[in-house]
Amino acid sequence: MAPGRLRCREVRLARRPNGAPALSDFAIVEIDLPEPGEGEVLVRNRVMSVDPYMRLPMTGQQGVHAAMGEGETLHGAAVGVVEASRSPDLPEGAWVSSAAHGWREAYVAPARALARIDPLAGDPGLYVGLLGLIGVTAYAGVEYVLQPKAGETVFVSGGAGAVGMIACQLAKRRGARVIATTGSDEKAAWLADEIGVDTAINYRTAGSLADALRAAAPGGLDGMFDNVGGSTLEAAIEAMKMNGRIALCGAIELYNSPNYRAGPANFFTVIEKCLELKGFNAGPYYSRAGEIFAALTAMLRTGELKWRETVREGIEAAPQAFVDLMAGANFGKMLVRL
Ligand SMILES: NC(=O)c1ccc[n+]([C@@H]2O[C@H](COP(=O)([O-])OP(=O)(O)OC[C@H]3O[C@@H](n4cnc5c(N)ncnc54)[C@H](OP(=O)(O)O)[C@@H]3O)[C@@H](O)[C@H]2O)c1
Repeated sequence: MAPGRLRCREVRLARRPNGAPALSDFAIVEIDLPEPGEGEVLVRNRVMSVDPYMRLPMTGQQGVHAAMGEGETLHGAAVGVVEASRSPDLPEGAWVSSAAHGWREAYVAPARALARIDPLAGDPGLYVGLLGLIGVTAYAGVEYVLQPKAGETVFVSGGAGAVGMIACQLAKRRGARVIATTGSDEKAAWLADEIGVDTAINYRTAGSLADALRAAAPGGLDGMFDNVGGSTLEAAIEAMKMNGRIALCGAIELYNSPNYRAGPANFFTVIEKCLELKGFNAGPYYSRAGEIFAALTAMLRTGELKWRETVREGIEAAPQAFVDLMAGANFGKMLVRL
């Protein structure tokens, strides 16, 4: 943070990425913050989240997330501490989480737009991960959408990422046999040795992924938790059993493409195999966040659930963290501490 109470830095989109994001697509800009007005607070962020969905507004296409213009400050989740308050609801020193005030060192916002948290219950970084979007997504996807049964074989794509590593463990906990893909031998070994998946596949070296999935599950896949989409989803459709189920969580393989909304080329196989594909997003499941976070916290405390973060330091490291996330440099959740 630069000297001076109300001066801070933020990350802006310098230009829309062309394909994979590059460092030069971002700019770090120093700004003056206004004094908080009535009902507002000044918050210094301590941890900010780095998420694949941030790539989508950068395409300029309108989706669930509003399209971003060049020169705009990036949005994203963050956890911070109230440094000055003009609201009785959030005193100085209170910890808050925000869904859209990340990618800046500090900000001024209405107190009512922020959620107070108790970091004494855990590392503040957990609130942009396991006890935030990641936990809700993975838990809802496994427990409410896919609902794997004991003895079923389930494929989790993007298994070594934040959502994927939790989805793998929750599916195992329900008694499923879990196959997971990831992009390096090191991450595959970690998935097998630490996360406990039954078969970990490095999709970059596997050759035909459909063949690798058939070899790992000769009887076919009962279910899939899909974080990757694209050719990975197509391979899974080929390897599914009749009446198989796919929970569609994300499609990161396509996010750098202008055609990221494209569906699988073998869609007719979905009809032939009577597959059930269910897209979901975390939003509606926040109504069950209390139940979800209680369950995940209990599992974390007993050691039943493992959580891993890849942490970068300082706002100046944030653009590279995003570039690296999209290229697969992270184990588990990518975040930046400020
Ligand atoms: N539906 C929802 O509400 C919701 C909420 C949160 C996240 N999501 C989605 O869930 C997915 C995972 O998100 P996350 O936050 O947990 O991120 P993450 O998995 O921690 O990080 C992204 C990972 O994607 C993998 N990847 C990148 N490009 C790839 C490609 N072309 N093919 C295959 N894998 C690729 C990389 O790992 P490798 O080394 O394995 O390549 C990278 O580490 C994303 O698709 C995200 O959009 C959905």
